[in-house]
Amino acid sequence: MNNRYNEKIEKLLSSMTIDEKIGQTNMLGGSIYTELDTSQIDGMLRDGLVGSIMYMCPQTNNKLQRKNLQLSKSKIPILFCGDIIHGVRTIFPIPLAESCSWLPQLAYETSKAAALEGTALGCKWTFAPMADIVCDARWGRVMESSGEDKLLASDFVAARVKGFQGTDRNNIDSTHMASCIKHFTGYGSSEGGRDYNSVTLSKQQLDNRILPPYKSGIDAGAVTVMTAFNDINGTPCTVNNILLDETLRKSWGFDGVIVSDYNSLKEAVIHKYCSDDVDAVISGINATLDIDMMSKLYITHIKQLIDNGKLSINQLDDIVRRILLLKYRVEIMDNPYTDETLQNTNIATPQTLELAYESCVNSIVLLKNDNRTLPIVNKKIYLTGPFTDDKRNLNGNWSYYNNVEQNITVKQALSTRNAELVSNINDCDVIIYCGGHTNEQCGEAASMVNIELPHIQQQEIIELSKYNKPIVLVINAGRPLALASIADYCSGILFTWHLGTRAGDGIADILIGNYCPRGKLTMSFPHYSGQCPIYYSEITTGRPANADKYTSKYIDSPIGPMYPFGYGLSYTKIEYSNITLKTNSITAKDNIYISVTVKNSGKYATREIIQAYCSKQFNKPIRPKKELIGYESVELQIGESKTITMEIPACNLMYKHQDNSGKYDIYVGKDSNCGIIGTITFSN
Ligand code: GLC
Repeated sequence: MNNRYNEKIEKLLSSMTIDEKIGQTNMLGGSIYTELDTSQIDGMLRDGLVGSIMYMCPQTNNKLQRKNLQLSKSKIPILFCGDIIHGVRTIFPIPLAESCSWLPQLAYETSKAAALEGTALGCKWTFAPMADIVCDARWGRVMESSGEDKLLASDFVAARVKGFQGTDRNNIDSTHMASCIKHFTGYGSSEGGRDYNSVTLSKQQLDNRILPPYKSGIDAGAVTVMTAFNDINGTPCTVNNILLDETLRKSWGFDGVIVSDYNSLKEAVIHKYCSDDVDAVISGINATLDIDMMSKLYITHIKQLIDNGKLSINQLDDIVRRILLLKYRVEIMDNPYTDETLQNTNIATPQTLELAYESCVNSIVLLKNDNRTLPIVNKKIYLTGPFTDDKRNLNGNWSYYNNVEQNITVKQALSTRNAELVSNINDCDVIIYCGGHTNEQCGEAASMVNIELPHIQQQEIIELSKYNKPIVLVINAGRPLALASIADYCSGILFTWHLGTRAGDGIADILIGNYCPRGKLTMSFPHYSGQCPIYYSEITTGRPANADKYTSKYIDSPIGPMYPFGYGLSYTKIEYSNITLKTNSITAKDNIYISVTVKNSGKYATREIIQAYCSKQFNKPIRPKKELIGYESVELQIGESKTITMEIPACNLMYKHQDNSGKYDIYVGKDSNCGIIGTITFSN
C-alpha cells in the first residue's frame, strides 16, 4: 500500500499488541451509554479495544477521546462516525428529491455544507452517499438513493463524495469527512421491495445497471465502503470475496476501508451461509472486511483464530493498515479533538440555509396542473391536510440530529408571504391539501405493500371535492406514490418529497409563483402499487405491452408508469426545435453530438433539463428498451431561446464486457417518453 503515511503506519503497527490491532476493527454504536457502564467503557478504552464509535456530540466525543488517549497504550484516536444522509442540524431534501434537480453540483454543495455541520458536531466519517440503484417504491430506502438510472446516480454519488471529503482524499481537512459508498451491493434490488430480502441479478444487470454508481463513487475518491445486508445470488455481501476483494479491491483498485453494515457480519450465519460465528469471522477476514459494525464477532474470535492458525497475523495487519490509513486521511491522528466553539459558527449559517432553499425549489416536481390552477395568484386559499403546519415530518427519515424548531412549514411560509388564507372553505377560490407520508413511512425497515396516499387522506380529499373548488394536492413523502385513485379529484399535484428545514419556503414560493417548478422525476411513479417494480429502462420482452390482449401488461391497470422517469411539468412553455443528430457513426473513443434549440415562450423564467437516450436495436443478451446517455440543464429567461450542443461520450452507451458494435436509436426530449431523432452506428 503506497501512500504518504506508510512509514508512520508501519512504525505504529510494529508497536501494537494483537489485542490493540483487533480493537481497531471494533465499532461501537451510539448505544455505548445504554449498553455499557462507564467502568466497562474505561476498560475497553484502556485495552485499546475501540477503533470507532457511532456518536455525534462534540463534548461527549472529546470526553471519550481524552479518556482513550489517557488510558490506552497505543494512543490511537477513536474515529467518530454517523449517518449524515441529507444534512445534520440543517436538513436538506432527501437524496431522491435532490436527484430530481438533475444538478449534481447542487448535491456537491449540500454534502459539503452537511460536512461543515457534521464536523462541528465531532463527526469525521459519514455513512453516505448511498449508491444503490432503485426500481421498487415499496422499498422505504428509495429515499436515500439518487433514483433508478445508473448515469444520473453515478453523477450524484461522485458529487456527494467530493462534497463530503473535499478534493484531496489523503488530506480530508477539518471541515470535511470520510464518505462511505453504500450498500455494496445491489441492496435496491431486494425481492418484492422488501427490506433486507434476497437479491438475484444477472452479470449484465450487475455490470451495467447496478455497479456503475458504486464505481463512480470509488473513482471520485471515496475512502470507505459499506457492505449490504442482502445476499447477491446466494452469497451475503458482507462475506462476499468476489465482490469485496476481487471486484472492489483488485479490479477497481480500492485501497480504503470496508465496513460491514449494522451486525451484518453475524447475519451471515442467519442467512444460513456461514455455519457459525467463527465461520463468519473467517469468511469476513478472507473477503477483506475491515471493520465489524456492532456484531462484536471480530473482537471475540480473531485472536483465537490467529493462535490456532485459521487466520494469519498478516491478514490482521493489512486490515489495521487500512484503518490507520483512514485515520491519517481524516487527520484525527494529529487532531483527535473537536473544536467545541465550531457549533456556534458552523451550524445553520446563512449560506447553508440559502443552499437548503435552493435545493428545495429545485427538487420539487409538478405532476399535474389542469386549467393553470397553479400558480395561485391573488386567490383566497383554504389550507388543510395533516402537513400544513407540521415541522417534524418535513424532514424525512435519517434526520435525527435536526433542530426541528428551525423548520419552516407551508402555513408559516404562506402567511409570511401574505397569501390570503381563509378559514371558511366556502369563501375560498382554491383548496390546498398538504398530505403524504410521515418520516417513519420511509427509510430503513419501512417497506410498504400499499403506496397510495393514506386512505384517510384520500377520503378527506374526496369530501373536499364536493365543494367544487379546484384542489391542489401537495405531497410530502419519501418515495413515489401510486396516485391513480386520487389524481382525478385534484386539479394540481405538487410532489414535494421530504425537503427538510426550508421546505415551507420552497413549497410556498412555487405555489404562489415566486419560483417556477423545474424538477424532473428520477424514479418512475406507478398508477398502482401492484405495478412495482417499475422503471423506464426495462427489457422490451417478446410481447411489449400494447392494446392487444396477449402482451406484457396488467388487465387492471394502464400500461407503463403514471408519471415516467424524467417527467416534470412547468408553469412556462418550453418549445424544442431543430433537434439534430450531428453524428452518424462512432467508435469507443468518440463523442456523439446533438444540437437542440429550446425556447421559453411562456411567462416564467426556468431551467429546462434536456435528456438524451439510446436504444440498441439488437443485442445478445437483450439490452433495455431505453437508456439515458446524457442530459443538459439550460437556464431560460422569459422569451429566451438557446441552441445547445450536447457532447456525449460513446462510453455512456457502452456496456462492459460486451461487443457494443451495432445500431443505436437516439431519443431527445423532456422526459423518457421522448421521440427518436436518428440512428448511429457504433463500430469497434
Ligand atoms: C443501518 C443502515 C446503514 C447505516 C448503519 C449505521 O442499519 O443499513 O445504512 O449507515 O446501519 O446506522
